[in-house]
Amino acid sequence: MFHSLTGALAACLLPNIVSAIGLHEAAVAAGLEFFGSATDNGELTDLPYLAQLSNTSDFGQITPGNSQKWDSTEPSQGTFSFTRGDVIADLAEDNGQLLRCHTLVWHQQLPSWVTSGSWTSATLTAALQNHITNVVTHYKGRCIHWDVVNEALNEDGTYRTNIFYTTIGESYIPIAFAAAAAADPDVKLYYNDYNLEYGGAKAAAARAIVQLIQNAGVKVDGVGFQAHFGVGTVPSRSSLTSVLKSFTALGVEVAYTEADVRIQLPTSATTLAQQATDFRNLVGSCVDTDGCVGFTIWDWTDKYSWVPSTFPGYGAPLPWDENFVKKPAYDGLLAGLGVTVPSPTTTTTATVTSTTSTTTSTSTGAPRWGQCGGNGWTGPTVCSSPWTCTYVNDWYSQCL
Ligand code: XIL
Repeated sequence: MFHSLTGALAACLLPNIVSAIGLHEAAVAAGLEFFGSATDNGELTDLPYLAQLSNTSDFGQITPGNSQKWDSTEPSQGTFSFTRGDVIADLAEDNGQLLRCHTLVWHQQLPSWVTSGSWTSATLTAALQNHITNVVTHYKGRCIHWDVVNEALNEDGTYRTNIFYTTIGESYIPIAFAAAAAADPDVKLYYNDYNLEYGGAKAAAARAIVQLIQNAGVKVDGVGFQAHFGVGTVPSRSSLTSVLKSFTALGVEVAYTEADVRIQLPTSATTLAQQATDFRNLVGSCVDTDGCVGFTIWDWTDKYSWVPSTFPGYGAPLPWDENFVKKPAYDGLLAGLGVTVPSPTTTTTATVTSTTSTTTSTSTGAPRWGQCGGNGWTGPTVCSSPWTCTYVNDWYSQCL
Protein backbone atom coordinates (compact mmCIF):
# COMPACT_ATOMS: atom_id res chain seq x y z
CA MET A 1 0.00 0.00 0.00
CA PHE A 2 1.29 3.45 -0.81
CA HIS A 3 1.61 6.03 1.90
CA SER A 4 2.24 9.08 -0.23
CA LEU A 5 1.57 10.49 -3.65
CA THR A 6 5.27 10.33 -4.36
CA GLY A 7 5.33 6.65 -3.51
CA ALA A 8 2.32 5.95 -5.71
CA LEU A 9 3.80 7.85 -8.63
CA ALA A 10 7.16 6.18 -8.25
CA ALA A 11 5.55 2.77 -8.04
CA CYS A 12 3.65 3.43 -11.26
CA LEU A 13 6.97 4.15 -12.91
CA LEU A 14 8.93 1.37 -11.28
CA PRO A 15 7.75 -1.55 -13.41
CA ASN A 16 9.22 0.22 -16.42
CA ILE A 17 12.58 0.78 -14.85
CA VAL A 18 15.47 -1.58 -15.24
CA SER A 19 18.00 0.13 -13.08
CA ALA A 20 20.56 0.04 -10.35
CA ILE A 21 18.04 1.31 -7.82
CA GLY A 22 18.89 0.01 -4.36
CA LEU A 23 16.74 -1.83 -1.84
CA HIS A 24 16.03 1.15 0.40
CA GLU A 25 15.29 3.40 -2.56
CA ALA A 26 12.91 0.79 -3.96
CA ALA A 27 11.28 0.29 -0.55
CA VAL A 28 10.61 4.01 -0.14
CA ALA A 29 9.26 4.21 -3.69
CA ALA A 30 6.91 1.33 -2.83
CA GLY A 31 5.57 3.19 0.23
CA LEU A 32 7.69 1.70 3.03
CA GLU A 33 9.66 3.87 5.44
CA PHE A 34 12.87 1.87 5.16
CA PHE A 35 14.82 -1.18 4.09
CA GLY A 36 17.58 -1.93 6.58
CA SER A 37 20.15 -4.33 7.99
CA ALA A 38 21.32 -5.46 11.39
CA THR A 39 24.99 -5.09 12.16
CA ASP A 40 27.39 -5.74 15.02
CA ASN A 41 30.42 -3.98 16.46
CA GLY A 42 33.04 -6.60 15.56
CA GLU A 43 32.18 -6.37 11.88
CA LEU A 44 32.84 -2.67 11.54
CA THR A 45 36.61 -3.06 11.26
CA ASP A 46 35.98 -4.84 7.93
CA LEU A 47 36.08 -1.74 5.76
CA PRO A 48 34.48 -3.13 2.58
CA TYR A 49 31.71 -4.46 4.85
CA LEU A 50 31.33 -1.06 6.48
CA ALA A 51 31.17 0.67 3.11
CA GLN A 52 28.25 -1.45 1.91
CA LEU A 53 26.47 -1.21 5.28
CA SER A 54 26.73 2.56 4.84
CA ASN A 55 25.33 2.45 1.29
CA THR A 56 22.05 4.27 1.77
CA SER A 57 20.75 3.20 -1.64
CA ASP A 58 20.33 -0.25 -0.08
CA PHE A 59 20.07 0.47 3.66
CA GLY A 60 18.16 3.36 5.13
CA GLN A 61 18.07 1.79 8.56
CA ILE A 62 20.30 -0.26 10.86
CA THR A 63 19.73 -2.36 14.00
CA PRO A 64 22.40 -3.30 16.52
CA GLY A 65 22.43 -7.10 16.55
CA ASN A 66 23.72 -7.42 20.11
CA SER A 67 25.04 -4.23 21.64
CA GLN A 68 21.83 -2.90 23.18
CA LYS A 69 20.87 -6.17 24.86
CA TRP A 70 20.73 -6.43 28.66
CA ASP A 71 24.09 -8.22 29.08
CA SER A 72 25.74 -5.46 27.08
CA THR A 73 23.97 -2.44 28.61
CA GLU A 74 23.66 -3.43 32.30
CA PRO A 75 26.22 -6.21 32.93
CA SER A 76 26.04 -5.70 36.69
CA GLN A 77 23.09 -4.27 38.52
CA GLY A 78 22.92 -0.49 38.29
CA THR A 79 26.09 -0.23 36.18
CA PHE A 80 25.28 0.79 32.64
CA SER A 81 27.51 0.56 29.60
CA PHE A 82 26.50 2.17 26.33
CA THR A 83 29.84 2.28 24.54
CA ARG A 84 29.13 -0.51 22.06
CA GLY A 85 25.56 0.53 21.40
CA ASP A 86 26.65 4.11 20.89
CA VAL A 87 29.06 3.05 18.13
CA ILE A 88 26.11 1.71 16.13
CA ALA A 89 23.89 4.69 16.96
CA ASP A 90 26.65 7.10 15.90
CA LEU A 91 27.21 5.18 12.67
CA ALA A 92 23.53 5.39 11.81
CA GLU A 93 23.54 9.10 12.53
CA ASP A 94 26.70 9.75 10.48
CA ASN A 95 25.23 7.80 7.57
CA GLY A 96 21.80 9.43 7.79
CA GLN A 97 20.21 6.05 8.55
CA LEU A 98 17.29 5.33 10.87
CA LEU A 99 18.04 3.30 14.00
CA ARG A 100 15.83 0.45 15.24
CA CYS A 101 16.73 -0.24 18.85
CA HIS A 102 16.87 -3.86 20.05
CA THR A 103 16.00 -5.11 22.69
CA LEU A 104 14.95 -4.31 26.28
CA VAL A 105 13.38 -7.50 27.72
CA TRP A 106 14.39 -10.93 26.42
CA HIS A 107 15.09 -14.30 28.00
CA GLN A 108 18.46 -14.62 26.25
CA GLN A 109 21.66 -12.63 26.74
CA LEU A 110 20.65 -11.73 30.27
CA PRO A 111 23.43 -11.22 32.81
CA SER A 112 23.57 -13.79 35.61
CA TRP A 113 22.59 -11.20 38.21
CA VAL A 114 19.16 -11.19 36.53
CA THR A 115 18.76 -14.92 35.85
CA SER A 116 20.23 -16.07 39.18
CA GLY A 117 19.03 -13.33 41.49
CA SER A 118 16.60 -14.12 44.30
CA TRP A 119 13.74 -11.92 43.30
CA THR A 120 10.31 -11.05 44.53
CA SER A 121 7.77 -9.65 42.11
CA ALA A 122 8.39 -6.18 43.56
CA THR A 123 12.19 -6.28 43.39
CA LEU A 124 12.32 -7.70 39.85
CA THR A 125 9.73 -5.17 38.69
CA ALA A 126 11.92 -2.39 40.09
CA ALA A 127 15.02 -3.83 38.38
CA LEU A 128 13.13 -4.18 35.09
CA GLN A 129 11.84 -0.62 35.28
CA ASN A 130 15.27 0.71 36.19
CA HIS A 131 16.89 -1.10 33.26
CA ILE A 132 14.36 0.17 30.77
CA THR A 133 14.33 3.72 32.12
CA ASN A 134 18.10 4.02 31.89
CA VAL A 135 18.54 2.43 28.47
CA VAL A 136 15.61 4.20 26.80
CA THR A 137 16.59 7.54 28.37
CA HIS A 138 20.15 7.13 27.10
CA TYR A 139 18.95 6.58 23.52
CA LYS A 140 16.06 9.05 23.72
CA GLY A 141 15.51 10.80 20.42
CA ARG A 142 17.85 8.48 18.52
CA CYS A 143 15.69 5.39 17.88
CA ILE A 144 12.65 5.16 15.63
CA HIS A 145 11.53 1.93 17.33
CA TRP A 146 12.35 0.00 20.49
CA ASP A 147 11.78 -3.75 20.61
CA VAL A 148 10.51 -3.56 24.18
CA VAL A 149 9.65 -7.22 24.72
CA ASN A 150 11.21 -9.94 22.57
CA GLU A 151 10.06 -13.55 22.16
CA ALA A 152 7.69 -13.81 25.13
CA LEU A 153 5.79 -16.73 23.55
CA ASN A 154 6.14 -20.46 23.02
CA GLU A 155 5.09 -21.98 19.70
CA ASP A 156 1.71 -23.10 21.11
CA GLY A 157 0.88 -19.56 22.19
CA THR A 158 1.51 -20.04 25.90
CA TYR A 159 3.88 -17.69 27.66
CA ARG A 160 7.55 -18.61 27.73
CA THR A 161 8.61 -19.33 31.30
CA ASN A 162 11.38 -16.77 31.57
CA ILE A 163 12.45 -15.14 34.85
CA PHE A 164 10.08 -12.22 34.28
CA TYR A 165 7.00 -14.34 33.64
CA THR A 166 7.64 -16.77 36.48
CA THR A 167 8.34 -13.96 38.98
CA ILE A 168 5.94 -11.20 37.91
CA GLY A 169 3.38 -12.89 35.66
CA GLU A 170 2.11 -11.56 32.29
CA SER A 171 1.93 -8.03 33.71
CA TYR A 172 5.70 -7.75 33.17
CA ILE A 173 4.80 -6.98 29.56
CA PRO A 174 2.62 -3.86 30.10
CA ILE A 175 4.99 -2.82 32.92
CA ALA A 176 7.88 -2.88 30.44
CA PHE A 177 5.97 -0.91 27.79
CA ALA A 178 4.86 1.67 30.37
CA ALA A 179 8.44 2.20 31.54
CA ALA A 180 9.65 2.65 27.95
CA ALA A 181 6.84 5.08 27.11
CA ALA A 182 7.61 7.16 30.21
CA ALA A 183 11.30 7.39 29.31
CA ASP A 184 10.75 8.39 25.65
CA PRO A 185 7.19 9.29 24.67
CA ASP A 186 8.14 9.67 20.99
CA VAL A 187 9.81 6.36 20.15
CA LYS A 188 7.58 3.64 18.71
CA LEU A 189 7.27 0.66 21.02
CA TYR A 190 7.27 -2.84 19.51
CA TYR A 191 6.55 -6.41 20.56
CA ASN A 192 8.92 -8.60 18.50
CA ASP A 193 8.82 -12.37 17.87
CA TYR A 194 9.46 -15.15 15.32
CA ASN A 195 7.11 -17.63 13.64
CA LEU A 196 4.21 -15.19 13.86
CA GLU A 197 4.23 -15.18 10.06
CA TYR A 198 2.36 -18.49 9.86
CA GLY A 199 -0.70 -17.19 11.70
CA GLY A 200 -1.98 -19.83 14.11
CA ALA A 201 -1.68 -20.07 17.88
CA LYS A 202 1.49 -18.05 18.30
CA ALA A 203 0.20 -15.16 16.17
CA ALA A 204 -3.12 -15.22 18.06
CA ALA A 205 -1.21 -15.01 21.33
CA ALA A 206 0.84 -12.07 20.01
CA ARG A 207 -2.39 -10.26 19.12
CA ALA A 208 -3.55 -11.00 22.67
CA ILE A 209 -0.33 -9.39 23.96
CA VAL A 210 -1.09 -6.25 21.95
CA GLN A 211 -4.55 -6.18 23.49
CA LEU A 212 -3.21 -6.88 26.98
CA ILE A 213 -1.01 -3.78 26.68
CA GLN A 214 -3.79 -1.69 25.15
CA ASN A 215 -6.29 -2.78 27.82
CA ALA A 216 -3.80 -1.73 30.50
CA GLY A 217 -3.98 1.77 29.00
CA VAL A 218 -0.35 1.55 27.91
CA LYS A 219 1.14 2.56 24.57
CA VAL A 220 2.07 -0.13 22.03
CA ASP A 221 2.85 0.99 18.49
CA GLY A 222 3.97 -2.02 16.54
CA VAL A 223 4.65 -5.72 16.15
CA GLY A 224 7.94 -6.93 14.71
CA PHE A 225 7.95 -10.09 12.61
CA GLN A 226 11.46 -11.48 12.88
CA ALA A 227 11.07 -13.61 9.73
CA HIS A 228 13.79 -16.20 10.41
CA PHE A 229 12.96 -18.95 7.91
CA GLY A 230 14.27 -22.10 6.32
CA VAL A 231 14.26 -21.94 2.53
CA GLY A 232 10.94 -23.03 1.04
CA THR A 233 9.02 -22.60 4.30
CA VAL A 234 7.93 -19.01 3.70
CA PRO A 235 4.13 -18.74 3.27
CA SER A 236 2.64 -17.24 0.13
CA ARG A 237 2.59 -13.49 -0.32
CA SER A 238 -1.19 -13.33 0.17
CA SER A 239 -1.10 -15.52 3.27
CA LEU A 240 1.66 -13.38 4.80
CA THR A 241 -0.35 -10.28 3.97
CA SER A 242 -3.45 -11.62 5.75
CA VAL A 243 -1.42 -12.27 8.88
CA LEU A 244 0.12 -8.78 8.80
CA LYS A 245 -3.33 -7.28 8.35
CA SER A 246 -4.70 -9.22 11.33
CA PHE A 247 -2.27 -7.16 13.41
CA THR A 248 -2.75 -3.76 11.77
CA ALA A 249 -6.49 -4.28 12.38
CA LEU A 250 -5.67 -3.85 16.07
CA GLY A 251 -4.36 -0.33 15.41
CA VAL A 252 -0.64 -1.14 15.46
CA GLU A 253 1.92 -0.97 12.67
CA VAL A 254 4.06 -3.94 11.63
CA ALA A 255 7.56 -4.48 10.28
CA TYR A 256 9.80 -7.36 9.28
CA THR A 257 12.68 -6.95 11.70
CA GLU A 258 15.25 -9.77 11.35
CA ALA A 259 14.66 -11.46 8.01
CA ASP A 260 16.84 -14.28 6.78
CA VAL A 261 16.20 -17.49 4.83
CA ARG A 262 18.66 -20.24 5.75
CA ILE A 263 19.66 -23.01 3.38
CA GLN A 264 20.98 -26.47 4.17
CA LEU A 265 24.55 -26.41 2.87
CA PRO A 266 25.80 -26.72 0.25
CA THR A 267 23.53 -24.36 -1.66
CA SER A 268 22.38 -25.15 -5.19
CA ALA A 269 20.91 -23.12 -8.03
CA THR A 270 17.52 -24.49 -7.00
CA THR A 271 17.74 -23.50 -3.34
CA LEU A 272 19.16 -20.07 -4.20
CA ALA A 273 16.25 -19.50 -6.61
CA GLN A 274 13.76 -20.61 -3.94
CA GLN A 275 15.42 -18.23 -1.49
CA ALA A 276 14.87 -15.39 -3.97
CA THR A 277 11.18 -16.33 -4.21
CA ASP A 278 10.92 -16.46 -0.42
CA PHE A 279 12.42 -12.99 0.02
CA ARG A 280 10.21 -11.69 -2.78
CA ASN A 281 7.07 -12.92 -1.04
CA LEU A 282 8.16 -11.58 2.34
CA VAL A 283 8.90 -8.06 1.21
CA GLY A 284 5.95 -8.11 -1.18
CA SER A 285 3.56 -8.79 1.67
CA CYS A 286 4.88 -5.70 3.43
CA VAL A 287 4.27 -3.63 0.30
CA ASP A 288 0.73 -5.07 0.16
CA THR A 289 -0.06 -4.12 3.77
CA ASP A 290 -0.95 -0.57 4.71
CA GLY A 291 0.84 -0.09 8.02
CA CYS A 292 3.82 -2.32 7.23
CA VAL A 293 6.57 0.25 7.63
CA GLY A 294 9.84 -1.49 6.96
CA PHE A 295 11.93 -4.53 6.21
CA THR A 296 15.19 -5.35 8.00
CA ILE A 297 17.50 -8.24 7.18
CA TRP A 298 19.55 -9.78 10.02
CA ASP A 299 22.83 -8.51 8.60
CA TRP A 300 23.35 -8.28 4.85
CA THR A 301 26.17 -10.72 4.03
CA ASP A 302 26.43 -14.46 4.68
CA LYS A 303 29.89 -13.69 6.07
CA TYR A 304 28.41 -12.33 9.31
CA SER A 305 25.16 -14.24 9.67
CA TRP A 306 24.26 -15.78 13.04
CA VAL A 307 22.80 -18.82 11.22
CA PRO A 308 25.81 -21.18 10.81
CA SER A 309 26.62 -21.11 14.53
CA THR A 310 22.98 -21.47 15.59
CA PHE A 311 21.66 -23.98 13.02
CA PRO A 312 24.44 -26.52 12.33
CA GLY A 313 24.59 -27.49 8.66
CA TYR A 314 22.69 -24.38 7.54
CA GLY A 315 23.91 -21.06 6.23
CA ALA A 316 23.82 -18.66 3.29
CA PRO A 317 20.62 -16.94 4.51
CA LEU A 318 21.22 -13.39 3.25
CA PRO A 319 21.10 -11.54 -0.10
CA TRP A 320 24.88 -11.17 -0.41
CA ASP A 321 27.32 -14.08 -0.21
CA GLU A 322 30.44 -14.27 1.95
CA ASN A 323 32.42 -12.41 -0.71
CA PHE A 324 29.86 -9.58 -0.80
CA VAL A 325 28.53 -10.67 -4.19
CA LYS A 326 24.80 -10.24 -4.68
CA LYS A 327 22.80 -13.48 -4.81
CA PRO A 328 19.49 -14.13 -6.61
CA ALA A 329 17.81 -13.14 -3.31
CA TYR A 330 18.84 -9.53 -3.94
CA ASP A 331 16.88 -9.42 -7.18
CA GLY A 332 14.03 -11.28 -5.44
CA LEU A 333 13.80 -8.47 -2.92
CA LEU A 334 13.86 -5.83 -5.66
CA ALA A 335 11.13 -7.71 -7.50
CA GLY A 336 8.98 -7.86 -4.37
CA LEU A 337 9.45 -4.11 -4.09
CA GLY A 338 8.07 -3.64 -7.60
CA VAL A 339 11.29 -3.22 -9.56
CA THR A 340 11.70 -5.05 -12.85
CA VAL A 341 14.96 -6.89 -12.53
CA PRO A 342 17.12 -7.73 -15.54
CA SER A 343 17.55 -11.40 -16.33
CA PRO A 344 20.92 -12.86 -15.32
CA THR A 345 22.22 -12.71 -18.87
CA THR A 346 21.70 -8.96 -19.04
CA THR A 347 22.76 -8.12 -15.50
CA THR A 348 26.05 -6.55 -16.44
CA THR A 349 24.48 -4.32 -19.08
CA ALA A 350 21.40 -3.13 -17.15
CA THR A 351 20.16 0.24 -18.24
CA VAL A 352 17.56 2.70 -17.14
CA THR A 353 14.72 2.44 -19.63
CA SER A 354 12.51 5.06 -18.08
CA THR A 355 13.40 8.65 -18.81
CA THR A 356 11.31 9.79 -15.86
CA SER A 357 13.36 8.05 -13.17
CA THR A 358 14.94 10.38 -10.66
CA THR A 359 16.76 7.65 -8.82
CA THR A 360 19.87 7.21 -10.88
CA SER A 361 21.98 9.17 -13.31
CA THR A 362 22.92 12.73 -12.67
CA SER A 363 25.32 15.09 -14.35
CA THR A 364 26.80 16.19 -11.06
CA GLY A 365 28.85 13.74 -9.01
CA ALA A 366 27.37 11.25 -6.55
CA PRO A 367 27.17 12.43 -2.92
CA ARG A 368 29.27 11.17 -0.02
CA TRP A 369 28.48 7.44 0.56
CA GLY A 370 26.75 7.30 -2.84
CA GLN A 371 27.44 4.56 -5.39
CA CYS A 372 29.77 5.53 -8.21
CA GLY A 373 30.50 2.23 -9.98
CA GLY A 374 30.22 -1.55 -10.04
CA ASN A 375 28.91 -4.26 -12.39
CA GLY A 376 25.59 -3.16 -13.80
CA TRP A 377 25.84 0.36 -12.39
CA THR A 378 24.52 2.97 -14.81
CA GLY A 379 24.58 5.98 -12.48
CA PRO A 380 27.27 8.57 -11.91
CA THR A 381 30.88 7.45 -11.97
CA VAL A 382 32.34 10.56 -10.41
CA CYS A 383 31.80 11.96 -6.90
CA SER A 384 30.88 15.41 -5.75
CA SER A 385 33.74 17.33 -4.19
CA PRO A 386 35.69 16.42 -2.07
CA TRP A 387 34.80 12.70 -2.21
CA THR A 388 36.69 10.06 -4.18
CA CYS A 389 35.14 7.14 -6.03
CA THR A 390 36.58 4.13 -4.18
CA TYR A 391 36.46 0.49 -5.34
CA VAL A 392 34.71 -1.70 -2.73
CA ASN A 393 34.02 -4.84 -4.73
CA ASP A 394 33.06 -5.77 -8.29
CA TRP A 395 29.48 -4.74 -7.59
CA TYR A 396 30.08 -1.56 -5.76
CA SER A 397 32.29 1.52 -5.73
CA GLN A 398 31.45 4.29 -3.30
CA CYS A 399 32.15 8.01 -2.78
CA LEU A 400 34.33 8.11 0.35
C1 XIL B 1 21.29 -13.09 17.72
C2 XIL B 1 22.57 -12.45 17.27
O1 XIL B 1 22.55 -12.23 15.89
C3 XIL B 1 23.74 -13.34 17.64
O2 XIL B 1 24.97 -12.69 17.33
C4 XIL B 1 23.71 -13.67 19.12
O3 XIL B 1 24.73 -14.58 19.43
C5 XIL B 1 22.36 -14.26 19.49
O4 XIL B 1 21.33 -13.37 19.11
N1 XIL B 1 16.20 -13.24 17.60
C6 XIL B 1 16.57 -12.00 18.06
C7 XIL B 1 17.97 -11.55 17.91
O5 XIL B 1 15.72 -11.23 18.52
O6 XIL B 1 18.38 -10.70 18.95
C8 XIL B 1 18.91 -12.72 17.77
O7 XIL B 1 20.22 -12.21 17.48
C9 XIL B 1 18.43 -13.67 16.71
C10 XIL B 1 17.09 -14.24 17.07
